[in-house]
Amino acid sequence: MTDMNKLPISIETPRLLIRRWDLDDAAGLKEAIDTSLEHLRPWMPWAHHEPESLDKKRERIARQRVEFLVGESLHFGVFSSEGARVLGSVSIRITAASGTANFGYWLRADEARRGYATEAVLGCMFVAFRGLDVLTAEIYCDPANVRSAAIPARLGYHRIPAAVRKTSDGRDRVSEVWQMARDRFEEIYGMIEDYNLCYEPSGDTLI
Ligand SMILES: CC(C)(COP(=O)(O)OP(=O)(O)OC[C@H]1O[C@@H](n2cnc3c(N)ncnc32)[C@H](O)[C@@H]1OP(=O)(O)O)[C@@H](O)C(=O)NCCC(=O)NCCS
Repeated sequence: MTDMNKLPISIETPRLLIRRWDLDDAAGLKEAIDTSLEHLRPWMPWAHHEPESLDKKRERIARQRVEFLVGESLHFGVFSSEGARVLGSVSIRITAASGTANFGYWLRADEARRGYATEAVLGCMFVAFRGLDVLTAEIYCDPANVRSAAIPARLGYHRIPAAVRKTSDGRDRVSEVWQMARDRFEEIYGMIEDYNLCYEPSGDTLI
């Protein structure tokens, strides 16, 4: 399904630059997380192991760049449009066998409630449906995470009620699943022209 030689590495949206993490982003990523711990911890299990050192952040970004190359999980930083400030992160986990892409996301606490997460998830949909030839986009939500569930609801996803489910990384979790098929995406968003994908330049190095 996905041509690994032609992965999108960034997407520009009306207000955001969403791009693959670089090692030089470690300090900005650390600052965004360290200042948002109370906001992240209820929903992001990894946030309980934060704060971590700058070296660990660099190691994490290096690992995520390798996962990106393999084409299973694409981890992107979400930046202000001029690229100066880390606003959050989105990730796309691809299950090639089913043609499904699963999205994860978080925002730094002081940039919430401005529509950036919704815009970033729509950006992921352009990456998945236009850049990766995915058939179905999925978002798993804890039913108590009302702010998170509001994003797929706002974007027109179909909700499958909460149940104990296997997540894409194999854990059992009570979650609701929100889904959108590619046809539906094209129906709703097909005419939008200000979401621009950018692909890996030839000869770029990963780490
Ligand atoms: C989940 C999370 C990303 C949602 O953030 P959010 O700020 O609610 O989402 P958005 O950035 O899309 O903002 C939406 C709000 O901005 C408002 N908004 C303001 N300006 C806007 C604009 N120009 N365009 C669109 N929406 C705008 C919307 O009306 C909406 O407000 P409402 O909540 O009062 O209806 C955030 O709460 C978070 O990081 N939580 C911790 C991590 C987490 O739970 N991740 C998800 C795991 S499944």
